[in-house]
Amino acid sequence: MGKDVIIACDFDSAEKTFAFLDKFTGKKPFVKIGMELYYAEGPSIVKEIKKRGHKIFLDLKLHDIPNTVKKSMAVLSRLDVDMTNLHAAGTKRMMQAAIEGLTRPDGTRPMLIAVTQLTSTDQESMENDLLIKAPIDEVVMHYASCASEAGLDGVVCSPLEAGKVHDRCGKNFVTVTPGVRFADGDIGDQKRVMTPAEANKIGSDYIVVGRPITAADDPVAAYERCCKEFIG
Ligand code: C5P
Repeated sequence: MGKDVIIACDFDSAEKTFAFLDKFTGKKPFVKIGMELYYAEGPSIVKEIKKRGHKIFLDLKLHDIPNTVKKSMAVLSRLDVDMTNLHAAGTKRMMQAAIEGLTRPDGTRPMLIAVTQLTSTDQESMENDLLIKAPIDEVVMHYASCASEAGLDGVVCSPLEAGKVHDRCGKNFVTVTPGVRFADGDIGDQKRVMTPAEANKIGSDYIVVGRPITAADDPVAAYERCCKEFIG
């Protein structure tokens, strides 16, 4: 498992995505395809980006009954992505079913990571809307433990939680962390942020970076700066 910078390709069309990726003539970055782009363009966007030589994190956050998730993961597995994800709230049984579906006949499979509590959920909305009364930090750590026990490879979490997740679930349990900003950059709508260097120090394995790279005047330079600060 290698440390890497994953660029969030939050575009709404293949055209905009390729205009962006065409700028990278050297190293092909690891990219994240989320719901917006996937729902706009379908599986072909995954195949085309893969063909261009990029690693892919397919961020579709599955959450359904175990049988449906298992069958959907089997379909996603055939797209040959490198990493995909689901909601830990779907239960351990759903996560185990997802692994079964994702595993190819030869025993290989993409990395599978879990979303714990979305960072848009706060203590108040968790208590009032979901009737979960435990402190949110405890809920995040509990979901991480469940994901680890179900055999998943890691979780998406805030860089601020990455160290605690490693303490609880072990060094090899991968932490994928969004909410990364350059020290001299715009925070935008993110609330709790870290620089790539800080994310490295605290033990993030992969950082997911969107606008600091996609909206930069020189995206390739911003990507290279990010890699240098995070990986060295
Ligand atoms: O542009 P920015 O760097 O904020 O993009 C971060 C990416 O990570 C987006 O694709 C966003 O949806 C995703 N993400 C996040 N916070 C989470 C989970 C995912 O920002 N808790």
